[in-house]
Amino acid sequence: MQADKSLEQILPYLRKDRNFSEYVTDCKRYGIDLCDELLDRARDQEQVNFFDLGCGFGLASQDIFPELTKRAKIRKLPTDVVDRITYYGIDKYYTPEGERTAQVHFVTSDLRFFQQESLPPIDVGLSYFVFPYLDRKLEALSGWYHHLRDGGRIIITNFYQDQLRQISGKFLASSKPIPLCALFIDKNVVEERKDTLLVSKSENPMQNPEFVTSRDETTLWTGKGPKGSRAGQKISFYRAA
Ligand SMILES: C[S@@+](CC[C@H](N)C(=O)[O-])C[C@H]1O[C@@H](n2cnc3c(N)ncnc32)[C@H](O)[C@@H]1O
Repeated sequence: MQADKSLEQILPYLRKDRNFSEYVTDCKRYGIDLCDELLDRARDQEQVNFFDLGCGFGLASQDIFPELTKRAKIRKLPTDVVDRITYYGIDKYYTPEGERTAQVHFVTSDLRFFQQESLPPIDVGLSYFVFPYLDRKLEALSGWYHHLRDGGRIIITNFYQDQLRQISGKFLASSKPIPLCALFIDKNVVEERKDTLLVSKSENPMQNPEFVTSRDETTLWTGKGPKGSRAGQKISFYRAA
């Protein structure tokens, strides 16, 4: 596995303690109701896998089931639909200390090269404020996409188009943002809402242009830590197909 030293430097300064109700509140801003997204699937499906991609301290595992149960009651759904839902927290740098149960799992894995044959498919994946910190953004996106169940969906927050760039000549300075529709043969699988990306599974694969390099966004290190609105974040460059 490749180490990412500049990421390791910035990690102590990032928030890693969001819980599930914060995820729910924030996703509402993009028109996504995370509880309904899971419960609707659990009505029709024996097992529904929620993947917290870049889970940090994994606090979402602590309130996900009470939150889902509350919502199931409001919707007058049988509360045992919640038993069909399983939480998978994935992170490379943190191993949460919270309780593991049959419904809560934590897995150490590098999200940039996500290949976990031993794990079940993703029904709903949320990558909350993780994408900007990945240097190999398309490799990550591709790994998650291939792990999606048919009909599954991944929500990627803080997706900044200008951090995903293509170069056609030699010079990084002349690179342009990659149009998302160029990455997916089926144009309906990807949808942008504000700075959030929604990716659904389709039979047509995602295309992966060749990785060239990555660059850190401007980060100023002061005595008190990093400064800069995108401190520690990364831009990934790919060769135009
Ligand atoms: C800003 S934190 C967000 C954590 C959590 N989603 C939250 O909102 O509280 C970004 C998380 O991404 C994880 N991360 C960054 N790069 C990763 C990688 N290549 N593989 C796995 N996890 C990674 C970090 O360890 C960190 O926990």
